[in-house]
Amino acid sequence: MSPTRVTREHNPLRDPRDKRLPNIAGPCALVLFGVTGDLSRKKVMPAIYDLANRGLLPPGFSLVGFARRDWADQDFGQIVHDAVREHARTPFRESTWQALAEGFRFVPGNFDDDEAFDLLATTVEELEHERGTGGNVGFYLSIPPGFFGQVCRQLDRSGLAKAEDGQWRRVVIEKPFGHDLASARELNAIVEGVFPADSVFRIDHYLGKETVQNLLALRFANELFEPVWNAHHIDHVQITMAEDIGVAGRASYYDGIGAARDVIQNHLLQLLALTAMEEPVAFTAQHLRAEKEKVLASVRLMDDLSTSSARGQYAPGWQGSDKVKGFLEEDGMKPGSRTETYAALKVEVDTRRWAGVPFYLRTGKRLAKRVTEIAVVFKKAPHLPFNDTETEELGQNAIVIRVQPDEGVTLRFGSKVPGAQMEVRDVTMDFAYGSSFTETSPEAYERLILDVLLGAPSMFPRTQEVELSWQILDPVEEHWAKDGAPQPYPSGSWGPASADEMMALDGREWRMP
Ligand code: BG6
Repeated sequence: MSPTRVTREHNPLRDPRDKRLPNIAGPCALVLFGVTGDLSRKKVMPAIYDLANRGLLPPGFSLVGFARRDWADQDFGQIVHDAVREHARTPFRESTWQALAEGFRFVPGNFDDDEAFDLLATTVEELEHERGTGGNVGFYLSIPPGFFGQVCRQLDRSGLAKAEDGQWRRVVIEKPFGHDLASARELNAIVEGVFPADSVFRIDHYLGKETVQNLLALRFANELFEPVWNAHHIDHVQITMAEDIGVAGRASYYDGIGAARDVIQNHLLQLLALTAMEEPVAFTAQHLRAEKEKVLASVRLMDDLSTSSARGQYAPGWQGSDKVKGFLEEDGMKPGSRTETYAALKVEVDTRRWAGVPFYLRTGKRLAKRVTEIAVVFKKAPHLPFNDTETEELGQNAIVIRVQPDEGVTLRFGSKVPGAQMEVRDVTMDFAYGSSFTETSPEAYERLILDVLLGAPSMFPRTQEVELSWQILDPVEEHWAKDGAPQPYPSGSWGPASADEMMALDGREWRMP
């Protein structure tokens, strides 16, 4: 398989006029904290290998692992090797692997161990001379947020956070970006107290997905959609992120967080922002973020949260032919947990474009299938010059952005059924990535890690977006905290009855993607 080169044209979020951005990362090293975690093994390490395999990393690229393990460089290499073998997207090539592995280093230590961080500083300096990393370093904190402060302070104390002239130092943090607005502010203050705001890269991996970026191409590169993309024509929008998996193995992380904090606060509100935002002045980080923030600041919750939100918890049931446990029976779960594994929320966006158009967001674990989509549902035609019986089976027009797994876009509209009578029924027109393009989509993490190394911040939410999103969610969480336990729903279903009732009150139904 020949390596695919990333060109500026491939990335709709990068300013095509900005000729300064190289497509291949310049000399640098990445320090990875949390090397034994799930995310590192399943996403970060494989993505680094895939980037190397596609020729997008510089020759002297170095990966430094830091963990509380008594390992030598080779032991760390073995961990990366296993992760790559199991999870990489591109084929395993011995030559790529060998070249990459030459840059592996491991520093053992605790986060409170000054000496370990001093050793890390020495290692980074050595790499500059040995491998020509140019003193450019990214610090990837794939660790629980409770440790962000401690690690940032250590990076500050040891001088690692400070870039010399002409060099860069950047920090990458993973969600959850706090637990609520207050904790997010604290966290932002800690991280941005050490690194300048433009050196902080917050990963929301949904923004790295090809289909999510395509939403911007769909809206702003075409004449067809934008004129009808408003309250005059749109009835409502449904944003769904459904998963068929449970929380197995992550019970202790997930308990106390729940579906709304885990997914609505970040992924779904970002999808909403991209769906609802105005055209940015240019596809630069500054302009994109400004437009998204305007949307987030205009999001309004309904007055009555008991009828405009719903939450549930999966009970035992069937996932296909497998009998599966309920949330409360998952290993490591605290008895009686009230954490929701399903959350649905209705909001409106108070702008001229969207006044009166409800946005329904829902996410859940152990639902009927894995699917993420944005469905923009249009109003019915204001006048139908047909008999009622002729349009009985005509629904509402819709544009559905299929984020995953069957990536593409579907257009639903009415069409005449062949035959002597006039009968109009819904049909669909499909665009599928798989059949329209020969290139396969990179993994979100490939895209995002490369952008960290390139210093391209467009796809990373900044402080204001994170805080605005918590401002939306906090009242919902407070309401739920006073409202008893979430409603159980059978695993393998489409969620709790209360979510359907919420839609029924508006005379609508959830889609069955
Ligand atoms: C993560 C959530 O952000 O996204 C997980 O923390 C969820 O709970 C995951 O499973 C889903 O990601 P994807 O890319 O598989 O839709």
